[in-house]
Amino acid sequence: MAEPVQTPQAFAPRIFSGIQPSGGLTLGNYLGALKRFVQKQDEGIETVYCLVDMHAITVWQDPARLRQQTREAAAGFIAAGIDPARSILFNQSQVSAHVELAWIFNTVARMGWMSRMTQFKDKAGKNSENVSLGLFAYPALMAADILAYKATHVPVGEDQKQHIELTRDIAAKFNNDYGVNFFPITEPVIEGAATRVMSLRDGTKKMSKSDPSDQSRINLTDDADTISKKIRKAKTDPEPLPETVDGLADRPDARNLVNIYAALADMTPAQVIAEYAGAQFGTFKPALADLAVAKMSPITTEMTRLMQDEAEIDRILAKGAERADAIARPIVDEVYDIIGMIRSRYR
Ligand code: AMP
Ligand code: TRP
Repeated sequence: MAEPVQTPQAFAPRIFSGIQPSGGLTLGNYLGALKRFVQKQDEGIETVYCLVDMHAITVWQDPARLRQQTREAAAGFIAAGIDPARSILFNQSQVSAHVELAWIFNTVARMGWMSRMTQFKDKAGKNSENVSLGLFAYPALMAADILAYKATHVPVGEDQKQHIELTRDIAAKFNNDYGVNFFPITEPVIEGAATRVMSLRDGTKKMSKSDPSDQSRINLTDDADTISKKIRKAKTDPEPLPETVDGLADRPDARNLVNIYAALADMTPAQVIAEYAGAQFGTFKPALADLAVAKMSPITTEMTRLMQDEAEIDRILAKGAERADAIARPIVDEVYDIIGMIRSRYR
């Protein structure tokens, strides 16, 4: 079998990304993902954004809460600047191509590859006998999300890098096994000052919607007062801010706050340090709190307004699903054909 040569120009640029509606969105999601999703949309590239409810159920979700969180995430996307007329915005379970392709990828991915996924190991912890099979297979579903659209670029936070590498391995193995140049070798897009926003309580831990401490994160639903209080109470060390960014190397809490400032203000961390070199946290934290409130509060207000009309959100998701299906259906049908499944012409 000839080694297929990947010619990137054969694939039109298309962006895909996903967020789990498994809790409220956080500042980490906003800076690491959502804000950058909006930038990509505004650059005029074709953008497909998915609320991955099928991923969410790999750990237990209360049905009523899952529904609420999916709508809330959709409202958060729109409030943050995703325009459902320009981007495709939908929830995963409405487009069956994702799970169909995921099953096929379960047969392409190797046990060894999946066993090396650090996010699974972190999430399963000591409990690995008792977590769902879906949690283990999760990255194959993620590869299916991306490749059902032949997406060329995936903006994500740092924690997803390994899953994108797996996606590339699955695409390459599929292409190779079947002697085709069908799937692109997708590029992760991990850029900016906030690819890994850390907990406000512990600068060595990722800010997460599943952290038991609400003080550790800023939620997209927090009001101005709550945002301000959480930042003022954020963990720091007693030193003033350094003269250069190198001085932040061993100061995870301080570095996190500087990175958050930079990402919110569209500056580099070096520019923030240039402005605040030698400043005490007593000065820097209120400035950061004001900035965070100024940037986040309008989004929260708009999200709350959008949540008043659930039917409208459901209509937007349905329309998005229809557009997503129009892209993914023919791609997955072609996959069935490539792998030798009979697709009845008599239907
Ligand atoms: P999740 O909430 O795990 O579904 O993540 C959705 C997106 O947000 C992914 O692209 C993540 O990489 C990104 N993300 C989640 N938490 C953070 C964080 N603390 N810092 C930066 N990006 C994050
Ligand atoms: N696994 C991602 C996360 O937890 C969410 C996700 C699912 C995703 N499918 C995706 C991200 C496809 C990018 C592309 O953050």
